[in-house]
Amino acid sequence: MIAPMRPTEPRDRLIVALDAPDAAEAERLVATIGDAARFYKIGMELAYGGGLALAPKLAASGKRVFIDLKLHDIPNTVERATAQIARLGATFLTVHAYPQTMRAAVAGAKGSPLKLLAVSVLTSSDDSDLAEAGYAFGVSDLVERRARQAVAAGIDGLVCSPAEAARIRAAVGDALLLVTPGVRPAGAATGDQKRVATPASAIADGADYLVVGRPVTQDSDPRAAAERIVAEIAAAG
Ligand code: C5P
Repeated sequence: MIAPMRPTEPRDRLIVALDAPDAAEAERLVATIGDAARFYKIGMELAYGGGLALAPKLAASGKRVFIDLKLHDIPNTVERATAQIARLGATFLTVHAYPQTMRAAVAGAKGSPLKLLAVSVLTSSDDSDLAEAGYAFGVSDLVERRARQAVAAGIDGLVCSPAEAARIRAAVGDALLLVTPGVRPAGAATGDQKRVATPASAIADGADYLVVGRPVTQDSDPRAAAERIVAEIAAAG
């Protein structure tokens, strides 16, 4: 099975993370970046700062929107919350990769164009964090197990570290879109990301979409920074 929404144009593969405290600052960034990017991620900081209202505005202006709220709750709540987010005109929504949660989100998105991404294992967790939380599997085994469960649940894609992309591709083939944060152009500051990859190597390892925040939003020229990443994606693809 070929996953839907596999991007063909390099520019469509860049998702800029709008990690801003409020909608006004996020809108300024979108205006500055202009047509250099077409896909924006609204995460918890912006959403809880009132920025969720930006989603339908961005969608109406022709941009794609990724709502990164990593849902996880009882199935009834996940299903109904997913249906609400579908009404915002978003293209992607993240949920945690628990089978029950994934199945509920798939039910909530039914009949809408919203695509669901499952967060395999948070990239801030290592094997000892998983053991502390009571898991019997280490990170790479759990990521692979959850990738297979995501396919079975009808999920469209996975958010994963670039370091995991090649292994997931080997396990599930083209059945899932792979969306990788932790991307840094050569020479860019890594910030708090521990395992980073360049746009070119993330693409070579099988990523469909790259999520990039600070290397674009904190650059003195965010538009030029986005253009450089698109050029690197084009050269790699
Ligand atoms: O600024 P930076 O490029 O590190 O931003 C990466 C974005 O991707 C942030 O919005 C972060 O919350 C998100 N993310 C991540 N690692 C994950 C999942 C999401 O960095 N495993």
